[in-house]
Amino acid sequence: MKRKTWKKFLYTAPILYGVALGVDLCLGGAPEVPEPGSAADTLTIVDKRMAHLVYNLLDSNGMIRGADLVRGEKLFMRNCRPCHGDDGRRMNLSGDMWHPRYIGTTAHDEAPTFWYMMNFGDSVRGMLPYYDEIPLDEMVDIAGFSQTLPRHPWTAEEAAAAMKEDSILEERRKKANLQ
Ligand code: HEC
Repeated sequence: MKRKTWKKFLYTAPILYGVALGVDLCLGGAPEVPEPGSAADTLTIVDKRMAHLVYNLLDSNGMIRGADLVRGEKLFMRNCRPCHGDDGRRMNLSGDMWHPRYIGTTAHDEAPTFWYMMNFGDSVRGMLPYYDEIPLDEMVDIAGFSQTLPRHPWTAEEAAAAMKEDSILEERRKKANLQ
């Protein structure tokens, strides 16, 4: 090959490769999907968990399909209530008292954020990862139940009812102490 032709080849080779690849992709159909667990399968556990949510669990309204809400409630009370409270409103996750966000809000409005946080946590914010603690089928139930939790701050009536309940309990406690 003469020097000049060689140089020409250097310039045109990437273009030819691009054209060939384009033709291959158009004619060849979808790229091959690697066998799960094989060396070519390079998805991380985070990718897999998130993909499972998006492809298998969420319906078109962003709601979890197939959750057992009764079991979800029990699991929520056991695992999440200690920090997030009975109805998920003990902690305001937005940090802005005028625009509060609770786990009920996140579960309902932003299921992927909820799912990510429950699985992988956030060490800076202090949320624990449950990926290794809670089996997948139980997580589905917890997520489904959490979507039914209240999403908004207490109304005046709710707050009044809670205060009344507190004062009744306080009365009872006092009486018990006197006896
Ligand atoms: C040991 C206490 C603790 C327990 C138990 C706990 N969490 Fe959390 N969680 C936290 C803290 C702390 C945060 C971050 C709060 C913040 O940033 O203000 C958090 C944040 C979250 C968030 C982030 C929501 C958002 O909008 O940012 C989700 C979702 C969540 N928790 C779900 C759960 C679920 C589901 C469970 C039960 C399986 C659970 N948590 C159990 C302490 C806890």
